[in-house]
Amino acid sequence: MLLVYPQSTLSRPNPFHPDDEDAYRYWRDRKLQDYPTDIGDLVVELNDPRRLKPQEFDALLARCRKTNMTLYASRTGTDPDPEIPLSLARHFGLTGLDRNWLADDTGLTSLTVRQNGVRRNYIPYTNRAIQWHTDGYYNPANRQIQALLLHVVQRAAQGGENALLDHEIAYILLREQNPDYIRALMAPDVLTIPARIEAGHVARPEETGPVFRITPEGNLHMRYTIRVNNVIWTDDPLARQALDALQAILQNDSPWIFRGLLELGMGLVSNNVLHDRAAFTDDAQHKRHYYRGRYTTRLAGTGLQETLAR
Ligand SMILES: [Fe+2]
Repeated sequence: MLLVYPQSTLSRPNPFHPDDEDAYRYWRDRKLQDYPTDIGDLVVELNDPRRLKPQEFDALLARCRKTNMTLYASRTGTDPDPEIPLSLARHFGLTGLDRNWLADDTGLTSLTVRQNGVRRNYIPYTNRAIQWHTDGYYNPANRQIQALLLHVVQRAAQGGENALLDHEIAYILLREQNPDYIRALMAPDVLTIPARIEAGHVARPEETGPVFRITPEGNLHMRYTIRVNNVIWTDDPLARQALDALQAILQNDSPWIFRGLLELGMGLVSNNVLHDRAAFTDDAQHKRHYYRGRYTTRLAGTGLQETLAR
């Protein structure tokens, strides 16, 4: 059945706007209805992402509409073909692959432990834990990451589990505690990432922006890291309270958090949801290798309008 959604929410204001209580409640109630509680509910079994069947795609899309993410379990094993994640991205209409300076030639990034070169200085290329974040929080406002794909070519001998939290659920949990938390986290100066200086030159300028933002298409985008080093948060007391509340949600085993270890051939397709990574240990046969694709566009067909028109 096609639900008729109040027209006012298709532009501003919309459910993510802190002043639009009616639209928010309408959206929230539908969002939480039958929301999955088990990570297994997010998994779609596929034969080969390069030859996706229509019903397989539909199953992936349905999950992304509900939770902003899906996991797939394919039979590609240790096949390192970059076309596996790239073809999935095309199915979801993703353009604007964010070729960060450490990316592979394909634009994907190979996340593996590096002993040499510049990469070993960055946590993603070590076996250390990565705390809660959304990807690309240090990117400029016009190149924020809206979609994130991961594909497992090899897993570690031990560890490396991921935790995942739909950023729209984080928004709801905070707004239910105090709608002013949302206002505070939408301020344009909440989070500043200092410039990256290399050899006396600015390699990446300072970036300041909000945590929550409504995109021009009316969707919710989140820019966040729980890390405390090399990050400057606003002094606004309300924003500080909101950040404490968010930290408590992330660190206190919220039932909304999905946790699991991705096996060979598995992957994540998401609208850049909140996630972390546990530390891991490689051995000679199991050197963890994940492909990561970051996109400046959202998964097609998973916006507010498509989601509410179910
Ligand atoms: Fe990440």
